[in-house]
Amino acid sequence: MTESASQPAAQKIAQKELARVLVTEEQIKQRIQELAKEISATYGNEELTVISIINGAILFTADLFRQLTCPTRLDCIRISSYSDSERPISDPELLDTFRLNINNRHTLVIDDILDTGRTLKKVVDLLLEEEPLSLRTCVLLDKPNRRDIPYEADFVGFRIPDAFVVGYGLDFDEKYRNLPCIGVLKAEYQNPPQWIV
Ligand code: IMP
Ligand code: MG
Repeated sequence: MTESASQPAAQKIAQKELARVLVTEEQIKQRIQELAKEISATYGNEELTVISIINGAILFTADLFRQLTCPTRLDCIRISSYSDSERPISDPELLDTFRLNINNRHTLVIDDILDTGRTLKKVVDLLLEEEPLSLRTCVLLDKPNRRDIPYEADFVGFRIPDAFVVGYGLDFDEKYRNLPCIGVLKAEYQNPPQWIV
């Protein structure tokens, strides 16, 4: 893990509470640069509306969005995937919807992680009702072996194994979002440990 003078507290938590780091701060920075180039090249000078799925995708969106070179608009959609703090629910709930008009506009959905596929599928179906000019998806992380619904994102940061991860926007019981890296929690910080593979 690289040192980051701006986040000493988060670094300490990462060192103490993570069993292992899957993606370092440096790797995230590097990959976001590559993704931003790829996405910017896809849209060229065409305007792009970004819809970020919050809260998880806030950090990723902020860093990626700043590096896009095409003309952009930004909105958010709030989805809950958990009925309580830790257990995923089968049908993610729409808590707050986007406000921008995306009809006949190029639209890109950004999420932190593609897991069972339910969240992204729900958001994509909702946005398609508005008949955007195009609709693509971008996720920082992909756990391809966990799909309940067959769905693939157009832009993927990292493919990772089936482990519950935290950091860089991803939480466990609303904690750890501020870690600069992405990692797996030590067993003693997981509750219930048996749910997290
Ligand atoms: P899906 O609907 O199962 O694809 O899950 C997507 C949502 O579940 C993500 O937006 C995350 O909020 C959450 N999620 C899935 N896996 C993880 C994880 O390993 N750590 C933290 N949140 C996760
Ligand atoms: Mg999420």
